[in-house]
Amino acid sequence: MSHSLAVLISGSGSNLQALIDAIEHQGLPARIDLVLSNRADAGGLARAKSAGLATAVIDHRDHDSRESFDQAMVDRLAPLAPDTVVLAGFMRILTPVFVRAFSDRLLNIHPSLLPKYPGLHTHRRALDAGDSQHGCSIHFVTEELDGGPLIAQAPVPVLPNDHEETLSKRVQQAEHRLYPDVVRWRAERRLFLTANGVQLDDRLLPPTGLVVPDLAAGDTARAG
Ligand code: GRF
Repeated sequence: MSHSLAVLISGSGSNLQALIDAIEHQGLPARIDLVLSNRADAGGLARAKSAGLATAVIDHRDHDSRESFDQAMVDRLAPLAPDTVVLAGFMRILTPVFVRAFSDRLLNIHPSLLPKYPGLHTHRRALDAGDSQHGCSIHFVTEELDGGPLIAQAPVPVLPNDHEETLSKRVQQAEHRLYPDVVRWRAERRLFLTANGVQLDDRLLPPTGLVVPDLAAGDTARAG
């Protein structure tokens, strides 16, 4: 039976699209059982529908606490028993109500090289700091915001004339390659969160997770 995913989104869903494409065209052995959004106007819902996926909207504004919103999401997802819950641009802070329900199978992608720049406006912060390198990180989610154990990071260069838009585009390109790879490790039952840390195959990963070669530079950098 293929690996079951639930994908949570709030926005355009380009990372969701990368997963859909990897399943449809690159043999990612997983299926997306539900795309759940907290916003009815999330662009990703249209992407899900055109791929024939089930969708649901649970609007956080219909709930008077974060816990009640999280419980509603747990109630919707738990019967599906997803093998992995993928946060893909899901822009709500999760409480222990949600995190504990899916602990050890909850992934998030974040647009910075964590632990640098948790939270919002990461591209602006990297530019303001004069960083020469930026990137994205994928981690298991714990109760600490953007603080869970790292699985993989993809550095991208900051170029001299970069502004927020150009830099975020380059980071997103890296995200779209890295997230399907990490989800594939899960689907192939190679990636786990253990009491000792993140395990990929038979090794424990370092605190940075796996740092992959410069994705923005393309396959030649990988081959070299
Ligand atoms: C991504 O940059 C991701 O890192 C962040 O939100 C953005 C989502 O983009 N958490 P999309 O909705 O997948 O296009």
